[in-house]
Amino acid sequence: MAIPNKPLGELKAVRDPEVEEREVDILIVGGGMAACGTAFEIWKWASPDTKVLLVDKASMDRSGAVAQGLSAINTYIGDNTPDDYVRMVRNDLMGIVREDLIFDLGTHVDDSVHLFEEWGLPMWKKTDDGKNLDGKKGQKLGTLKAGATPVRTGKWQIMINGESYKRIVAEAAKLALGEDNIIERVFIVELLLDDKADNQIAGAVGFSVRENKVYIIKAKTMMVACGGAVNIYQPRSVGEGKGRAWYPVWNAGSTYTMCMKVGAELTMMENRFTPARFKDGYGPVGAWFLLFKAKALNGLGENFAASDKCKEELARYAPYGTAAITPTCLRNHLMLFEMKEGRGPIIMDTVTALAELGKTMDKKELKHLESEAWEDFLDMTCGQANLWCATNTEPEKKNSEVMPTEPYLLGSHSGCCGLWASGPNCDWVPDDYKWGTGDKIFNRMTTVNGLFTAGDGVGGSGHKFSSGSHTEGRITAKSMVQYLAANPDLAPSFKETKEELLDLVYKPVRVYLDNCDYTTAEEINPNYIKPSGMALRLMKATHEYGAGTSTYYQTSTKMLEVVMDLLQTMREDCEKLAAGDLHELMRAWEIYHRIWTVEAHLRHIQFRKETRYPGFYYQADYPGQDDENWFAFTNSKYDPKEAKWDVFQRKYHQIIPS
Ligand code: FAD
Ligand code: ADX
Repeated sequence: MAIPNKPLGELKAVRDPEVEEREVDILIVGGGMAACGTAFEIWKWASPDTKVLLVDKASMDRSGAVAQGLSAINTYIGDNTPDDYVRMVRNDLMGIVREDLIFDLGTHVDDSVHLFEEWGLPMWKKTDDGKNLDGKKGQKLGTLKAGATPVRTGKWQIMINGESYKRIVAEAAKLALGEDNIIERVFIVELLLDDKADNQIAGAVGFSVRENKVYIIKAKTMMVACGGAVNIYQPRSVGEGKGRAWYPVWNAGSTYTMCMKVGAELTMMENRFTPARFKDGYGPVGAWFLLFKAKALNGLGENFAASDKCKEELARYAPYGTAAITPTCLRNHLMLFEMKEGRGPIIMDTVTALAELGKTMDKKELKHLESEAWEDFLDMTCGQANLWCATNTEPEKKNSEVMPTEPYLLGSHSGCCGLWASGPNCDWVPDDYKWGTGDKIFNRMTTVNGLFTAGDGVGGSGHKFSSGSHTEGRITAKSMVQYLAANPDLAPSFKETKEELLDLVYKPVRVYLDNCDYTTAEEINPNYIKPSGMALRLMKATHEYGAGTSTYYQTSTKMLEVVMDLLQTMREDCEKLAAGDLHELMRAWEIYHRIWTVEAHLRHIQFRKETRYPGFYYQADYPGQDDENWFAFTNSKYDPKEAKWDVFQRKYHQIIPS
């Protein structure tokens, strides 16, 4: 059930909160696109007596990456084929991807898009004479499912009027699952293993950010889709702009940390996404490049991507660099190449783009085009529209700067880090890509029995975006029900007692209460550190040594050693995290999750002795790609019993021919 918004101010934390214990069959952690997909789908497969619970740290209506809405659905197969979709993702991610997962998603994703339209999400439509109709006008042309033509920006993307996208998707999820089966504003801290069965998930523990209450939840199977990791590197925005980032600031690496801490195998954690964005407002560039056909210029006003120098540079990364569509990391690489050679800043030529498009338009159509340019941001990243207002920027009159941002970790957008998950139970899927329990295979199960993930959680398979994440969530719904059916004797129990779990979750509160009277300035105390201070420490370390913006995304063997040492100290100091109120308690656990996620990221970068994703990061001691030794997945596993990491390679299989 939704808990109302809090009154002014944060609720003080108490030493001994209430504890609520629950026992369910299926637990869904997260309330974003993937989790909404699971919630919508689950009753199609589960018997009515199955107990299902969804827990979101925020309010589902606006939680996760789609909170502000979106202006496009980036994965709609339509007249294309899933084979081609695999080829596109493979090329964009420099070759090493899980083709089984991508193909599987490609065969199902359009169904989610059709549902979104049925639930009321307006999709733009193309008229027979090639005009774009949006909003109600677009709706009059019928639905995509019935054969109406979407407005394609690129080959895979379609335009929507998507300010309320998340509300629409959440409403369907809530209606399907039932409000009584949802708890909002509960932050899950850790997953718990079964004390009897080896490598079997048994539940999770978390706390309410609106009441002094700890939740201990037993579950026979669960899916964790808490999005990617943001605010792990020093953002470009500072001072009053701080808090502005591109991906959602409240996704704190919980998916990766919680799953790895119970021993789930990670894959491609070195793969980060460093997006090129409109500078300072973080406005996405896709609609400008694809829909408005804008060009990025260097500081000399040249279309640098078409220059011989840049073509030569791209040729070094053939076949990806010379493909029809340049991969995202290499597009960044070219921007950095220009900037390093002194030909920055990079400018999005909005003026020429709109003028070109306007040539064939009457006055009314031109006005509409200009409003579309604003709507792109108002629907998705309203801070960018605010910045345009604040800086007197009318895109038809004044160009805007674009810039690669700080790095993000995610598995659903143009990156592919995440959990190593089973593929579908199909004969064309290689044996080492699919697993389960007994002789059964469970699609999207991690290497921990009963633990599933989706969206940003599933690694090795980016470019799912909003629609694909929803689809993947739906896939896990079916798999979890199959898992229950195949394992009827599950009886989850924990080795940790109720008191131990309570002590774990509320430790930062107790550290605070024990020491806060020692100093007059609450933030400064020799016996504790506040999460805000720890966040700055993490960002400074990654920024300077972990291939952040300060070094143009470059790191080296030595720098990695330094940052690993700093991370070790941070992890030790996390014992002294202090939280005076419930918001701060959430911040304490978020920074803890971020630190572990960053460690996984940097351990993978340390292990991969090549630079596979120039433009996303550079390993100075190993420049260039080394296909002979490194055309393989980098996987890692944290052993919770031994508290030890293992990083290793896993074989790549090409399934879809070139
Ligand atoms: P999310 O949707 O981010 O959901 C994560 C959920 O986990 C949230 O509900 C969150 O509250 C919850 N959570 C986090 N931590 C915890 C915890 N510890 N305990 C409990 N709950 C937790 N896609 C497109 O298709 N088209 C676009 O145009 C597009 N543009 C984008 C623009 C921006 C600015 C952004 C940020 C994303 C964009 N995307 C776009 C990508 C798309 O939004 C993501 O791919 C998708 O939302 C990922 O789904 P997810 O379920 O994995 O994560
Ligand atoms: S958004 O999801 O936050 O809007 P972005 O604007 O980067 O992200 O990308 C939207 C879509 O456009 C993605 O499918 C991305 O791969 C694609 N895209 C962005 N820029 C280009 C480009 N220059 N060429 C080809 N595809 C692009």
